[in-house]
Amino acid sequence: MTHNDIHDLVAQWRLPNDGPLLERIERMVEPTLLAGHFGSSPTQLVSGLQYHLGGSVDTRQLAELAGLGPSDHVLDVCCYLGGPAVQLVDSYGCRVTGIDRFEAAILAARRIAALAGISDRLAYFVADAIDIPFPNGAFDVIWNQGSLAHDPAWLREFDRLLRPGGRLALVFEIRPDSALPSPDDRRWTLQETVAQVLAMGYRIEHVEDLTEREIALGWEELIRRIDERRDIYLSVLGETWVESANAEFAEEIVAMRRGAWSNGRLVALKEGSKES
Ligand SMILES: C[S@@+](CC[C@H](N)C(=O)[O-])C[C@H]1O[C@@H](n2cnc3c(N)ncnc32)[C@H](O)[C@@H]1O
Repeated sequence: MTHNDIHDLVAQWRLPNDGPLLERIERMVEPTLLAGHFGSSPTQLVSGLQYHLGGSVDTRQLAELAGLGPSDHVLDVCCYLGGPAVQLVDSYGCRVTGIDRFEAAILAARRIAALAGISDRLAYFVADAIDIPFPNGAFDVIWNQGSLAHDPAWLREFDRLLRPGGRLALVFEIRPDSALPSPDDRRWTLQETVAQVLAMGYRIEHVEDLTEREIALGWEELIRRIDERRDIYLSVLGETWVESANAEFAEEIVAMRRGAWSNGRLVALKEGSKES
């Protein structure tokens, strides 16, 4: 698909009138998602607008842990189609700026915001997470869900963009504490991630290993979602896809249970006051 094709496709979107905003957006976007125009991994297709384990519940939990409210300008790093960003605007009254290097996703996110009538509180830009084109201290909250690259340059960029007194809100993959670092697993452990954030002078407000939650609210929920919407997946993607998606999610549960990898969550405060 070329840029123009995606542009045309997205221009045809029409927001349904009935139901809660996020649900209406999901319904509008679903056919293009299922056609693989915004990525084709089973996790991506079943997750929908919120491309991380835990969906809108994960977004709500992180928002509440970070104490988000109407005075916050949030930078959503790696925002994808903007499902979490819309939720932060809609449920918490925040202003959100999203960046992602996936240009088609940014195009779609902008269209969603315009159709939802919330473009005044949402702005999206194509950018790489290690070089985000905003001034130092421009944001009250740096939000990064399901995308941390385990590269210290990412945290340095987050720190540059966050104002003193602002919060870092992260959900990210971790390797188990007991695992020896290996060349093919560059993920940090939860403790290593905490150590990096402490080294930047932050106060940790919340830190949590999400393994059990990710199994129940993540993978098991995705399996339930396939089951509930089996007819749609069967007719659009076929039986082989349904079987392999189920098998993939079941394998991830096994992998998490044997401690191969997991997710962690962290909220940290950048010391200092807004005026400093
Ligand atoms: C797993 S998705 C998470 C999307 C979103 N945060 C959510 O939770 O729904 C990862 C996203 O990170 C983006 N991404 C990965 N590396 C990036 C980078 N270096 N700079 C900007 N975006 C990046 C991808 O394009 C993709 O949209």
